[in-house]
Amino acid sequence: MKRDKWASRSTFILAAIGSAVGLGNAWRFPGLAARHGGGAFLLVYLIAMLVLGIPLLMMEIAIGRRIRKGAPGAMRALNSKAEPVGWIAVSNAIVIAIYYAVVFAWVILMFIVSYKFAGLTGDTAGASSLWATLIKTTGTTSGYGTIAWPVVGCLTIAWIAAYWCIRKGTESVGKVIKYTVSLPVICLLILAIRGFTMEGAMAGITKFFIPDWSALSSASLWVDAIGQVFYSLSIAMAIMFAYGSFLDRSSNIAADSMIIAFSDLLISLLAGVVMFTTMSGVGMLDDISASGIVTAFIVYPQAIVRLTTVPWVNAAFAYVFYFCLITLAIDSLFSIVEGASTAISDKFKLNRRKTTLTLCIVAAVIGLFFVTAAGLAWLDIVDNWANSYTLVLTGVLEAIVVGWCFKTSKVLEQINMNTRKFKMPAWWFNISIKVVAPVILAGLFVWNIVALFMGGGVYGAADGYTVASNILGGWAVMGLCLVSGAIVMLIAKARAKKGFVEDTAGWDEISEETEEEAV
Ligand code: PHE
Repeated sequence: MKRDKWASRSTFILAAIGSAVGLGNAWRFPGLAARHGGGAFLLVYLIAMLVLGIPLLMMEIAIGRRIRKGAPGAMRALNSKAEPVGWIAVSNAIVIAIYYAVVFAWVILMFIVSYKFAGLTGDTAGASSLWATLIKTTGTTSGYGTIAWPVVGCLTIAWIAAYWCIRKGTESVGKVIKYTVSLPVICLLILAIRGFTMEGAMAGITKFFIPDWSALSSASLWVDAIGQVFYSLSIAMAIMFAYGSFLDRSSNIAADSMIIAFSDLLISLLAGVVMFTTMSGVGMLDDISASGIVTAFIVYPQAIVRLTTVPWVNAAFAYVFYFCLITLAIDSLFSIVEGASTAISDKFKLNRRKTTLTLCIVAAVIGLFFVTAAGLAWLDIVDNWANSYTLVLTGVLEAIVVGWCFKTSKVLEQINMNTRKFKMPAWWFNISIKVVAPVILAGLFVWNIVALFMGGGVYGAADGYTVASNILGGWAVMGLCLVSGAIVMLIAKARAKKGFVEDTAGWDEISEETEEEAV
């Protein structure tokens, strides 16, 4: 089978930036900065990005390019026992895709009803309840009987859009990516100009950039910064292995990864400037919340209706804002589906287009779980577990496989194969992958578990989330991800009995010819 390939270097870079830059940049990053002393958080984020994020990003892309397979096949080529690690990443990616699409659907819905902001001018109470009313949420884990039909409609639109973008693999992705990466930047620039021209904007900028050094002593700052680096760079989600596997051997991974990571950072900073200047301008600087969902759907709408006293101007601003979020979210959503569908189709030698379509349909149907009045609470629970626990664990396992069950020097050789000016130094890569990543991430995982139990063992208990919902949406989903590798092995065995032969070439067995053929 001919392997899909990026049309050019810039297509790959843009696709990777599109994946990395998502809703996380727009609200999670500014929210965390607000909570953790502005510039102090930015500094720690930068360190975490250099020490952990960039080496892991390079590692995933490089392994993908060498092996030419999605995450599980790539892991297996490094060590015959490591395939399940790849499946944990894939199954967690599917979980994230399922609910990310629902958040995307809410964004689409808010975009559609943005005209309502005109009628709400000055009415902050009305603005803050707009979204909650639309999705009919009870805020708790009860209320299955009520379905928010407009959300069902938007979820359908979201999945059709995502499928349409990836239906022809890198070819169709390459076409849409130019728009989905440049449009949000343009929108953010428009919003930033508006933000800067508001009175009080400077107070916001000061709060965002001037460090409050005392925040550095809080462990949660470090935990949040590291988690955000992972989430933002789309690491440990099986995406970068897949995107790397579509790369040409002549690609310059060391330089490209730097471009991807720093573009992601710049866009986070730009989104932060928008958030802080606008909030400061409308006198809501202290309301920027670390909880992303609340910021985008409750706090920001309040800011929008206070922007001016001219109704249509506010509505226009709302349209730009939600359009910006749509363009931010779509390429992250389809990248995560690509990561999963590449892994599955590689393993079972399936047609990629059909695999993608099936995945989209299945994920859309399961996503219906989140469109009832109980949906928001469930989404919050699943999101918390997928990111604070499973994602971090995947990072630990990946680093251990590469650092300790394989040779980092071989991966580094791939990374630096075509370098010109910038070469990834061996000490940097080795220390990160062998020591810092496993130790820090394991620490982060333990910290999160301890924090959960210190809080009574139930995530969101104060918000009315039940033990049962934590068991189902948290422990059970994580458990399923952890055993997904075993399930796939069983399926593979059953298929092997029927004569199915897998590709099992290890790292060193992949010859130039196979690579050429694969290309
Ligand atoms: N990097 C994305 C963001 O910042 C996170 C993400 C990637 C989420 C892919 C889903 C899928 O929003």
